[in-house]
Amino acid sequence: MNAAVRSVVRTALYFDINVKGIYHGYAGLLNNEIKELTHRSVSNIINSGGTMLKTSRCPEMFAASGQRRAAEILQAEDIDALVVIGGNGSYKGASVLDRKWGIPCVGVPATIDNDINGTDSTIGSDTAVNTALEAIDKIRDTSSSLERIFVIEVMGRESGFIALQVALAGGAEDVVLPRVRVELDRMCRDIKEGHLRGKASWIIIVAEGARKSSDYIAKYINRKTGLDVRLTVLGHVQRGGIPTARDRNLATILGANAVRTLAKGQHFKAMGVISDKLKVVDFNVATKSCKEDRTLIKLIRLLT
Ligand code: F6P
Repeated sequence: MNAAVRSVVRTALYFDINVKGIYHGYAGLLNNEIKELTHRSVSNIINSGGTMLKTSRCPEMFAASGQRRAAEILQAEDIDALVVIGGNGSYKGASVLDRKWGIPCVGVPATIDNDINGTDSTIGSDTAVNTALEAIDKIRDTSSSLERIFVIEVMGRESGFIALQVALAGGAEDVVLPRVRVELDRMCRDIKEGHLRGKASWIIIVAEGARKSSDYIAKYINRKTGLDVRLTVLGHVQRGGIPTARDRNLATILGANAVRTLAKGQHFKAMGVISDKLKVVDFNVATKSCKEDRTLIKLIRLLT
C-alpha cells in the first residue's frame, strides 16, 4: 500500500494538485485525522509493508449518518476528490460517498485476498502468497522427513485465492476453500490409499473461512486414519513483510492512474490491470462477487 500512497502523492504533486492524507481509513476521516502530504512525506516507504497512513475497520461508514459526516468533513477540508486504497469494504464506502454524497472517488485495489473484479491482481496479494509459500516450503521439510500429515491454514475469510495459489505452487496434496463442500471422508480415503502406495507425507491447505475449521479437519483426519497430523495456522505473517517487486510496481502504476483518472474528470472508477494493460471499471463492477478459479482444485488433486 505504501507504494500506492507514494505514487498518488507524487503524481498529484507533479500535476500541481495538493494532497492530504487521511490516517486510519474511514474511522480517521470521521475523526478528522487529516494531514497535508508533501513529496518528502512519502520518502523511503516504497519497500515497507503495511501502510504509513495506518488503517482500521469502520462500522460507522455502513450507516447514512456516518457517510454524511464523512462527506461534510471532506468538504470542510476542501478535499475535491478521494483516492481510496483498499478492498471491497473500502470500495463500498467510496461508492456511497461518490454516488450519494457527491464526493468524486476512485479506487486502487489493495487486499491480500485478490477478490476484486476488474483487475487480475490486487496490491498485497503477491506478497502474501509468496510469504505463505515460503513458510509452507519450510513445513514440507518436516512433513517429508517425519512422514507426517500437515494441515496448514492460510488467510482468506471469504476468499480462497491464497489457499489455491499456495496449494498449487507448494505442491500440496489437497486444498479446502470457503463456500466449497469439505469432503473429509474422501480426503481420508485418499490419504490412506496414498499411505498404501508408500506416500507418507501429505499437505492440506485450508483457507481461514472454510466451512470446517482447520482444527476440526486436522482432528478428523487423525481420528479416521490414525496417522500423525499436525496443524499450523500461518495467520498475520501473511499480511506483512517486504512487498514483492510485482506488488510495488502494480501499486505504483495504479496509484498514478488513479490521479490521472481524477484529473480527466472521471470518478466512481476502480483501477486495475488486466493482461498487463491498464483497466478502469465502475465501482459497481469492481465490487461484484468474484470467485477463485476452482478448476485449479482438480489440478492440485490430480498431481498428488
Ligand atoms: O480481508 C483481508 C483479510 O486478511 C482476510 O484474508 C482475513 O480473513 C481477514 O482480513 C483477517 O482480518 P483481521 O485481521 O481483522 O482478523
